[in-house]
Amino acid sequence: SEIGVTCVGFAGGQNKAGVDTGPTALIDNGLLSQLEKDLGYTILHDGQTHTYTSHQPAPEDDPIHRGMHNPRAVSAVTEQLEAQVYAQAVEGRFALTLGGDHSIAIGTIAGTARAIRERLGREIAVIWVDAHADINTPESSESGHVHGMPVAFLTGIAREDDLKIFGWLNKDTPTPGSEGYDKLGGKVKNGGEGTSAATGVLSTKKLVYIGLRDVDRGEKEILRKFGIKAFSMHDIDKWGIGRVMELALAHIGSDTPIHLSFDVDALDPQWAPSTGTPVRGGLTLREGDFIAECVAETGSLVAMDLVEVNPSLEIMGADETVRAGCSLVRCALGDTLL
Ligand code: ARG
Ligand code: MN
Ligand code: MN
Ligand code: MN
Repeated sequence: SEIGVTCVGFAGGQNKAGVDTGPTALIDNGLLSQLEKDLGYTILHDGQTHTYTSHQPAPEDDPIHRGMHNPRAVSAVTEQLEAQVYAQAVEGRFALTLGGDHSIAIGTIAGTARAIRERLGREIAVIWVDAHADINTPESSESGHVHGMPVAFLTGIAREDDLKIFGWLNKDTPTPGSEGYDKLGGKVKNGGEGTSAATGVLSTKKLVYIGLRDVDRGEKEILRKFGIKAFSMHDIDKWGIGRVMELALAHIGSDTPIHLSFDVDALDPQWAPSTGTPVRGGLTLREGDFIAECVAETGSLVAMDLVEVNPSLEIMGADETVRAGCSLVRCALGDTLL
């Protein structure tokens, strides 16, 4: 079968240079030839690492907006990327995207969602493996870095505004504040208890987090408000990764097309030190691979992102970080299954 590879050397969702070289580092380490020669996939790749510099306005032309850094650049790049990933997934190819910082998931997940809706008439589920929830709204974010916000925009919890930042997203879903929806895009309940529902390209019901250990206060409020399923490191310590994967996959339900968005900082810095926002107390290399293997085993995985590999940080550990990243992708594509 076929894998459509997109390389996104984009760093504008955060403030550390070098994450734009992630895709090249992964490919130089042999990732694509491993998938081709060892695993027998046909790789479709244009041989380019897209940096989208032509779409990237100069910093003076991209001032901070609602606290977001580089808002126009991130919006433009992810809009392009949405079309690229859509084009792969709509042909029935596995859409593999190498980042880049995690803001690119706005494009990849929107692209997968549109393709699967069109091709199979189905809604996708997302498994988000990360130390962070990346569900800040521009208003709740303390950093202003958009790589901490992708899930808020995908679910419609955060929205476009007068400047049309991410105006290409959620075009067909109700606008917050419109009748029946509150300011966060949540469905207004008539006095009822329970959780809100947001309306976006990704349903909050079809989202599962694994590996969380550094979630901002505003994000915790959002997770609670929308009743989003999350397995933290605490849950993994308590139940073990095997049980957590059973529960995570049960939440999604069988036979649902899955997009796996894997932030390498989900792994403990011992295994993946070269990343922009490392947090100690993370997944072991084997737990990371095991998550990818379990998702592969479902036979429902249609797309994967591997993001936040930054070889210019902790350069003594860059090689190890890159090798860990390659291993995660191989596992998600069935390498270690017998
Ligand atoms: N929660 C922090 C923020 O919003 C950190 C986000 C880190 N995200 C990432 N994709 N590494 O700035
Ligand atoms: Mn490419
Ligand atoms: Mn992270
Ligand atoms: Mn992330």
